[in-house]
Amino acid sequence: MNATIKLENVKHFPVLLNEVISIISPLYGGTFIDCTFGQGGYSKKILENKSNKILAIDRDSSSLKIANQFKKKYPNRFDFKNIKFSEISNLDKKVNNLRGIIFDLGYSTTQIKDHAKGLSFNSRGKLNMKMGLNNISADDVINKLGEKELAKIFKVFGEEKNSNIISKKIISYRKNKNIETEDLVKIINSVKRKKFSKIHNATKVFQALRIVVNNEISELLNGLVNSFNLLPIGGIMVIVTFHSIEDKIVKFLLKNYSENKNSSRYLPPSMEKKILFRLLDKKPIIPNEKEISNNPASRSAKLRYGIKLNNNSNFSELKKKFNHLLEVENLTNKV
Ligand SMILES: C[S@@+](CC[C@H](N)C(=O)[O-])C[C@H]1O[C@@H](n2cnc3c(N)ncnc32)[C@H](O)[C@@H]1O
Repeated sequence: MNATIKLENVKHFPVLLNEVISIISPLYGGTFIDCTFGQGGYSKKILENKSNKILAIDRDSSSLKIANQFKKKYPNRFDFKNIKFSEISNLDKKVNNLRGIIFDLGYSTTQIKDHAKGLSFNSRGKLNMKMGLNNISADDVINKLGEKELAKIFKVFGEEKNSNIISKKIISYRKNKNIETEDLVKIINSVKRKKFSKIHNATKVFQALRIVVNNEISELLNGLVNSFNLLPIGGIMVIVTFHSIEDKIVKFLLKNYSENKNSSRYLPPSMEKKILFRLLDKKPIIPNEKEISNNPASRSAKLRYGIKLNNNSNFSELKKKFNHLLEVENLTNKV
């Protein structure tokens, strides 16, 4: 049944596209980095203006096919790198006239529908969940990691209330058989027999697994800091998030470094906290009802953005604030 899906025919609808475009358009006439190229929905729209160039990045090599079509169509205005956005500072060439860096986090519809990637609980067979350029898979996590570590991952990254019992059952089940996607769903269903909500029983555990398999926390923290450092003053950072952990990180970065609330007026200027961003919208921008009804996958999207005002070499508050999440992500080093 799964094999009949033709991925070429699966279309990803770019989320909050008009909003992203109207935010960055005052800065048109330079290069934008699309850190999450996917099917190129954002890049295509930005390239409609002939004075813009795009450097696109995606960790998933399936994006290469569309990227190659873009290279043909816009030979002097488009380039693509199959790297992780945390590696943005290792780009081999200097990016000239950089105006903005855009992140549209999460997964494209094509990736979710790709059963070989196993991102969804409707997938079959060996657990995977790798987006691309990964060190581990969900199979490694579920079939090799200890009970305590699994419980912690489900609790922190999935906010799964039954994390302890689910991990206990995983350990016992895998004594007889390698756990595959459908086994994991069965185990979760056996714990959460009654369905009171519209969301699938396995949603939270699957979210937690996707986060650790793809190192989403360190990717985001390093991606944001390294992008900030690459961006010239006056450039813009635009970030669309899809789950609350991502949004907390982005919100903290933009808010904490755009106000001087905690600085004492008695501190010498050299010790005052530097204001790094100007925020034009304090609240996140979210999809309207029409977009949500046309594209239900957009319902949890939140867009935040900031204009860079100053350079900074030290993001110690950001790193300290989310260190507990990095510690949980690092539990997978044990597999
Ligand atoms: C929601 S999709 C982007 C869709 C795109 N804006 C479009 O209009 O087609 C997210 C993309 O980001 C990529 N991605 C996620 N995390 C990444 C990372 N750390 N580095 C590079 N690409 C990443 C995924 O592979 C996926 O293709």
